[in-house]
Amino acid sequence: MAKKIYKSLPDMSKARNRVDAPLLRREDVVVPPLFASFAKGRKYWISTFGCQANVRDEEIMAGFLSIAGMERASEESSADLVIINTCAVRENAEEKVYGEIGKFKANHLKDKNFILAVCGCMMQEENIAKALMERYPFVNLIFGTHNVPDLLSLLEEHLEKKKDIVEVLSFPGSIVENLPSTRLDDYKAFVNITYGCDKFCTYCIVPYTRGRERSRKKEDILAECRELVEQGYQEITLLGQNVNSYGKDFKDGTNFASILEDVANLGIPRLRFMTSHPWDFSDDMLDVIATHPNIMKCIHLPVQSGSNDVLRRMGRRYTREEYLNLVRKIRLKMPSCAITTDIIVGFPNETEEQFEDTLTLCEEVGYDAAFTFIYSPRKGTPAAKMVDDVSSSAKHERFDRLIKVIEKSVIGHAEQMVGETYAVLVDGPSKKDPGMLSGYTESSKLVHFRGPKQLRGHIVPVRIVESHTFSMIGELVEDPWISLAKDVAKDLLQEDAAKRFFATKKAMEDDPEVARLRDAIQEEQRALALAMKDGDDLAYAHHKKAYEQNKRAYEEHPLVRNLAASSEELKQELLSVVGELS
Ligand code: SAH
Ligand code: SF4
Ligand code: F3S
Repeated sequence: MAKKIYKSLPDMSKARNRVDAPLLRREDVVVPPLFASFAKGRKYWISTFGCQANVRDEEIMAGFLSIAGMERASEESSADLVIINTCAVRENAEEKVYGEIGKFKANHLKDKNFILAVCGCMMQEENIAKALMERYPFVNLIFGTHNVPDLLSLLEEHLEKKKDIVEVLSFPGSIVENLPSTRLDDYKAFVNITYGCDKFCTYCIVPYTRGRERSRKKEDILAECRELVEQGYQEITLLGQNVNSYGKDFKDGTNFASILEDVANLGIPRLRFMTSHPWDFSDDMLDVIATHPNIMKCIHLPVQSGSNDVLRRMGRRYTREEYLNLVRKIRLKMPSCAITTDIIVGFPNETEEQFEDTLTLCEEVGYDAAFTFIYSPRKGTPAAKMVDDVSSSAKHERFDRLIKVIEKSVIGHAEQMVGETYAVLVDGPSKKDPGMLSGYTESSKLVHFRGPKQLRGHIVPVRIVESHTFSMIGELVEDPWISLAKDVAKDLLQEDAAKRFFATKKAMEDDPEVARLRDAIQEEQRALALAMKDGDDLAYAHHKKAYEQNKRAYEEHPLVRNLAASSEELKQELLSVVGELS
């Protein structure tokens, strides 16, 4: 009997299909019985490669597993279920995956119940899943990007049939709401606004691995962001392969500028978005970014090449001149806005002059940062069929020259920051030096500085004292405990307990009966003092009785009692926050 069940394998021609409208699913999570008993007391590990789309998928898969009762393992070797979430964008991303799968052979040998699953964009490529199953017999489950919402039922099927399962759907894709999520961070979050991509740049595999471009409904995005704001998140990044295309599929005038503005108005301290395509970057978007202080002035604007001929062959839909014009418009509106980019070197038949066009464009823009890649042919894409006459050594040599040009502008921007103070969102102890904290400025510059670990997740002012190419050294401008106290006070005022306290206090101030009782108490106090002065025992006894009656009525008044209760509640809240900090 075959050990493997191939339910569906990817098909690039189906993956190109843009005809069917995407399905909208809104489902409750059901934990199937066999997996529920597997999950009990067991731990998972998810190893993610690639971009933020994959990171978000990891969080959703972790959400499913945690509802089923599993916990995240503290290290990969102790996990009972491992999911490898792959990327297909370049060859080197794929090579890393093979090494990663190999690492888990030991877990498989140690424990016959161990489950190894492989998912993500690489599984959407033709021929990969089958080859993987043959080369690595200890892989138990393979699924694609469209199958993430069905994770639990796939695991159940594996347990029930005691077979290794492959299910990779190739279709235009669906939108699934009510997805569970265990976020990797408790102060920075990614929120998907669109899925897939319809641009079909000729070198790129993403439109085939992630399906058609489809937008989530505005209400669903806002509900997710509102919840994050209420939970105290400091930063939201709106995600899409092309965020500028948001809403185009609704054909009702909904657009990215409006969702960006609506999310900004929810009051999240930092709002970012990625990626914006230079082709459909509207003036409305620029206006919204410029007018909202909580939208970070940092735009990732992948150019890919500075040559019009290469851009045309890449299918990028803009010219060098249009791109530079957009950069000028951004700088005119927001002079200090950081601009970052992605560049591909060595696209098929790129000439020396065409490469130099990329260098001059980089010099003209003066990027704050750039992700540079050597072109990697992706099977099934149009560019992979182009005959390429550029040698690999020429590509590497151009790559090194490009990096030098980029470094020049990056260092230039960094040097200008020395002596200035910037707001930094603290990520916690630095990975390289645990004695230092690290965080990012509004324009996404990495800063290291000394401070207490309790600042993690807080935004603090930091003065830059030293600049390096990829990071800065800074020092706290304010006593860290004062910064924390200010944040705690701000957070506390947002708590329900504080809102109740202030509402009751206001109701009490506005209530005529409470005001009358207060006046009466004062009146009786005055009369008491007078009677004492005059030695009038009778009047004293009369006013004392009246004073006590009014005082009791005041203390027993429901609004006064409510205020005392909310004050106690607020005190407990404050003590718990202080407890968390100490
Ligand atoms: N949707 C985003 C980026 C997605 S992929 C955008 O359009 O900007 C991230 C980056 O990988 C791309 O910007 C591109 O620079 C690079 N990339 C994509 N396909 C590649 C390939 N085949 N070879 C080399 N780099 C590639
Ligand atoms: Fe790929 Fe182009 Fe789509 Fe970006 S816009 S994901 S580079 S096809
Ligand atoms: Fe890689 Fe897929 Fe993202 S190919 S870059 S993980 S969309």
